[in-house]
Amino acid sequence: MSQDQLVQNTINFVKTTLHDAEGGHDWFHIERVFNTTKLISQYEQVDPLVVQLAALLHDIADPKFHDGDESVGPKMAHDFLKSHQVDDYIIDHVVNIIQHMSFKNSLESSSPTFSSKELHVVQDADRLDAIGAIGIARAFNYGGFKNRALYDPNIPPNLNMTKEEYKKSNAPTINHFYEKLLLLKDKINTETGKKLAEERHQFMLDYLEHFYNEWRADSAGHN
Ligand code: ADP
Ligand code: NI
Repeated sequence: MSQDQLVQNTINFVKTTLHDAEGGHDWFHIERVFNTTKLISQYEQVDPLVVQLAALLHDIADPKFHDGDESVGPKMAHDFLKSHQVDDYIIDHVVNIIQHMSFKNSLESSSPTFSSKELHVVQDADRLDAIGAIGIARAFNYGGFKNRALYDPNIPPNLNMTKEEYKKSNAPTINHFYEKLLLLKDKINTETGKKLAEERHQFMLDYLEHFYNEWRADSAGHN
């Protein structure tokens, strides 16, 4: 099977598998990460097949919806690629990327067990989709799904949560900006990713300023 055919089959598999996924992790999230991955790859020395497969398969089974089990996604990706006679070294690389993608993994203080340029590119594309206009939409969509408040002036952000506390936290969605989204800019690996992140980061800062102004009903337009 040609590489193009394999990528197309993977697209079909992911679309089918995610047909009823929640809005923040649906096929369109994958498509955006896939497109941004291809964009960043134009400026980086990476194996194009590995980054494309990893981008497509990186959220095939969100642990949040599998009782926190982080092994379901990597195993599904492995089994899918194996059934398409993909070379083992490619499968291993793609599965490693999927296992090491998440923000929480990167927070664990234990030294990283795997790293590659391909991981860096796909990780950047995924992080970029969590910031800017789309990142804001995804955050409030997720908060709504969890029935959380938009904002509560009496509940300050907590920057010292452990992985477990973070998972259980029921904090308002605005807190998520300080606990995660505004920190992502400095975690971007590639130069291309950093340029894209800068603009999206500034947009979130502007958004928050507008949000607080409207909350206090002292919007600048009425001064
Ligand atoms: P990823 O895209 O890396 O798999 P996550 O599964 O952590 O990211 O989150 C998916 C989306 O939901 C992201 O846009 C993220 O910002 C958002 N999200 C995750 N946790 C929260 C939260 N506690 N409050 C608001 N949004 C959240
Ligand atoms: Ni993702």
